[in-house]
Amino acid sequence: SDQMYLMYDGLMLPCETHSTESLEFAREFTFKDDDVLVVTYPKSGTIWMQEILPLLLNGGDLTPVLTIPNWDRVPWLEETRMALVVDQLPSPRAFVTHFPYQLLPASFHTSKAKVINVLRNPKDVLVSSYYFHQMASFLEDPGTFEEFMEKFLDGRVLFGKWTDHVKSWKNTELGDRIMYVTYEEMVQDLPAALRRMSDFLGRNLSEEVIQKIAENCSFKTMKANNMSNFSLVPKQYMDNDRSHFLRKGITGDWKNHFSPEQLARFKSAIEKELEGESFSLPWSL
Ligand code: PPS
Repeated sequence: SDQMYLMYDGLMLPCETHSTESLEFAREFTFKDDDVLVVTYPKSGTIWMQEILPLLLNGGDLTPVLTIPNWDRVPWLEETRMALVVDQLPSPRAFVTHFPYQLLPASFHTSKAKVINVLRNPKDVLVSSYYFHQMASFLEDPGTFEEFMEKFLDGRVLFGKWTDHVKSWKNTELGDRIMYVTYEEMVQDLPAALRRMSDFLGRNLSEEVIQKIAENCSFKTMKANNMSNFSLVPKQYMDNDRSHFLRKGITGDWKNHFSPEQLARFKSAIEKELEGESFSLPWSL
């Protein structure tokens, strides 16, 4: 319904967390050179990075992840909480965004702020999003899995088409200011992914600190952390009897949801959208 979502530059955004003012704030925001911005299409590893980044940036001090809710610890650039908390953030600051590249403010381009783009296999993104729509009252009912897949492929979902988002971030001219990491490599070997991020951010972390961060950012630890598991959100907004924000945390759950016909349809639709692109996806579809 039109009260549930607002349209911004052709993108569907939930009114619960976004407003004309918050979007204006994001577009006029002033980036600093040492800011770090995590970029994700929804359901690709955003809250995981809200756990990881403060620890990479502060050398493994657990205080922020144990005392500050994830949405205020590493705010979403485009959401309403951003303006309320940005002045309290320690330096270097970390943000997350679901924006496509072209919506970043002018100050980002003149700054040296770095970007980490987390990519997740779109089949698992779709499944994760499907369950999220069932538990979040501020999002429309997804209908059947088949119906939701069609919406996803058409871009009639939050932040539009997955392929448009990926194209925008794969085709930047950010050079060594951007790093790409996959959700899958984080699941497979989190310490190795953390090491890569730490090097990219110019941190000099010992193996011991990397291990400590990995333990604190495991699915299990995050699920038990009230500052990260959304248990602070009232049930009327997120109903944990239906699903959890930290739902499964695995790769390949799509195999439990896609029929062979749906898989073929999904693959061909995504491949068509990516025809002629010079980058290749890090997984087979
Ligand atoms: S959102 O709404 O865009 O902020 O969602 P996002 O955080 O991007 O994605 C949620 C999915 O990420 C999974 N997640 C994790 N997986 C493994 N390990 C850790 N630590 C972790 N933290 C979050 C979360 O479980 C959602 O995926 P699914 O497949 O639904 O479990």
